[in-house]
Amino acid sequence: MTDTAPMVSVREAHKMFGDLHVLRGVDLTVSAGEVCVVLGPSGSGKSTLLRCINELEVLTGGQVRIEGELIGYEERHHGGHTRLHRLHPKRIAAQRSRIGMVFQRFHLFPHMTALENVMEAQVQVRGRSKAEAKARAVEMLGRVGLSDRMDHYPAQLSGGQQQRVAIARALAMDPEIMLFDEPTSALDPELVGEVLAVMKDLAASGMTMVVVTHEIGFAREVADHVLFMDEGVIVEEGPASQVIDAPQESRTQDFISHVL
Ligand SMILES: Nc1ncnc2c1ncn2[C@@H]1O[C@H](COP(=O)(O)OP(=O)(O)O)[C@@H](O)[C@H]1O
Ligand SMILES: [Mg+2]
Repeated sequence: MTDTAPMVSVREAHKMFGDLHVLRGVDLTVSAGEVCVVLGPSGSGKSTLLRCINELEVLTGGQVRIEGELIGYEERHHGGHTRLHRLHPKRIAAQRSRIGMVFQRFHLFPHMTALENVMEAQVQVRGRSKAEAKARAVEMLGRVGLSDRMDHYPAQLSGGQQQRVAIARALAMDPEIMLFDEPTSALDPELVGEVLAVMKDLAASGMTMVVVTHEIGFAREVADHVLFMDEGVIVEEGPASQVIDAPQESRTQDFISHVL
């Protein structure tokens, strides 16, 4: 099954917050090495979708699979039918560690240098030795172009540099998938490009990525497919040449004309 299963498969995903029905039947398939860009207005459920893929939130209905493996539950077969049992938190943590996530805000530890920030979870979560974690951190900070900033504290770094540290921190955990939730939205305009360049390199290296962004240029250049979400559903999806440059649905047309 895992030979042919897509890297990420979301089926009929529903999420309620109390009475608020935020995801209303979302289906999403991302193959290994693909970059999927998610567009949509504020409040349409984009962050919630990423958080459900990464198990920061539990779906109210539907399912998420990573390479065919059901996220959050174990399937037990009894006679003709299958029952779902919630997985032990340790198993969920193991599943989550396959997925890297980068947020709008960088959430670096202010009292740690860039190097220490990239080492921390490797030691605490992956159980790596300090030497091993340091070697990997040096490598990943080099990959995001920060070899000369490793001993700087977050307050000594620009927003773009801090976000690149956050990307290095996620990559150091050896994720199979990277989720980005508006990674450049908190940055001054002149710092957006350096972060997008790192993401472009990562895409070119074959990483599977789901990226929520309003950066239409990035979507055009990098996305294998683009989704437009509104009010908890995927209104339209396809290549950028369709969804961005020739949208069929009026809601997509309105949105695109506002962000362009
Ligand atoms: N933890 C939460 N509790 C209650 N409501 C939430 C929670 N997270 C998100 N929401 C609501 O869900 C809707 C979608 O939010 P979100 O997924 O953040 O949208 P987007 O990322 O597209 O802006 C919004 O109305 C938001 O207020
Ligand atoms: Mg959001």
